[in-house]
Amino acid sequence: MPEACILGIETSCDETAAAVVCSGKRVLSNVVSSQIATHRPYGGVVPELASREHLRAIVPVVRQALAEAGHSYRSIDAIAVTQGPGLAGALLVGISFAKALAFALDKPLVTVNHLEGHIHAVLLEERQKGEFPALFPVLALVVSGGHTHLFLAEEQDRGWRYQNIGRTRDDAAGEAYDKVAKLLGLGYPGGPVVDALAPQGNPQAVKFGPSQIKHRNRGTPAAEQTDYDFSFSGIKTAVLRYVKTEDLEKTITSRRQRLETIPKPTVEDILALCDQKTLDLIASFQRAVVEDLVSKTLAAVRERDVRGVFVTGGVAANSELRRSFEMAAGREGLPVFFPSRRLSTDNAAMIAAAAHPKLMTGDFAGPAFSAEASLAL
Ligand code: KG4
Ligand code: ZN
Repeated sequence: MPEACILGIETSCDETAAAVVCSGKRVLSNVVSSQIATHRPYGGVVPELASREHLRAIVPVVRQALAEAGHSYRSIDAIAVTQGPGLAGALLVGISFAKALAFALDKPLVTVNHLEGHIHAVLLEERQKGEFPALFPVLALVVSGGHTHLFLAEEQDRGWRYQNIGRTRDDAAGEAYDKVAKLLGLGYPGGPVVDALAPQGNPQAVKFGPSQIKHRNRGTPAAEQTDYDFSFSGIKTAVLRYVKTEDLEKTITSRRQRLETIPKPTVEDILALCDQKTLDLIASFQRAVVEDLVSKTLAAVRERDVRGVFVTGGVAANSELRRSFEMAAGREGLPVFFPSRRLSTDNAAMIAAAAHPKLMTGDFAGPAFSAEASLAL
């Protein structure tokens, strides 16, 4: 096969996405249809609504991805689809469609773990820039709305091997951003808003100590514990406590009501409705989360023979996280890689890229597989 072009399909959460990527690096199209407007009134993703939106969007999104790539159903070489982890009903829409296409077209079908996709978003773009230096094993921090995981990743026998050495014990980092933003009446999704507002506040104003983000292994069997686990539910509770003790509830309610009257609020609209105390709280929350992600990742780097760091997933779009990682990794003399912001959040180009080595080694899916909401990598 001279150059294998794969149609990737991703429907694990609230983005219906399709892309055509050749040889794991040439992105011919990358279409993402976001459901943010559907879920915004609820302040989070509603699984049943997500499935319905995927059903509505899947055919036009795939058609657009093929058209933009100058391909047809017949001319692509293989189909790749996210099998999990994610929302079962949402995953099933992509999987059923991908299976039907593969069967009707008699093309190979490859399944991809969503977390593996996020890691390949970095590899895809580094391959585009030229020869990727042999930095293996890399330590990959996958940090998104649903996941906060540390993986050692390396290429072996033309495929990829991953070892999970850390994970969140409760909320994912992106989930903490979303929940804190909801709590403060800042709208949904929380990550981009907090990212944009945090520079207006004093990150040292509210002292969130390590006890708020320290994981406790209570109740976790010793065999399942890892040294680099995360915990973000405590900081959400600490923010709530601060809101109560500082009497911020009235301003939050009025901000929420005002924002409900604006169809697509801009950062300036939200900023105009925030007092300094709220901005300081936002900046302090972000500082605590970013410091925790960076320090645990770097602790793992020091104790393992790691040659490079990948930071990927929706939260990798965060400006402060990028800056802090670059500074900290720079001090260790370690290269750190991020995907572009477009490939940080969910997309199907990363799924098609992750499928390429599997296609090359004949690692195809049988007809019987189904969605796996908690699929491990
Ligand atoms: O990777 P993604 O699109 O979906 C999942 O696999 O979960 O990540 C979405 C998450 C949301 O929680 C969103 O608030 C967060 O990524 N996010 C950010 C930023 N942009 C998106 N968090 C912090 N700063 C950002 N700039
Ligand atoms: Zn994701």
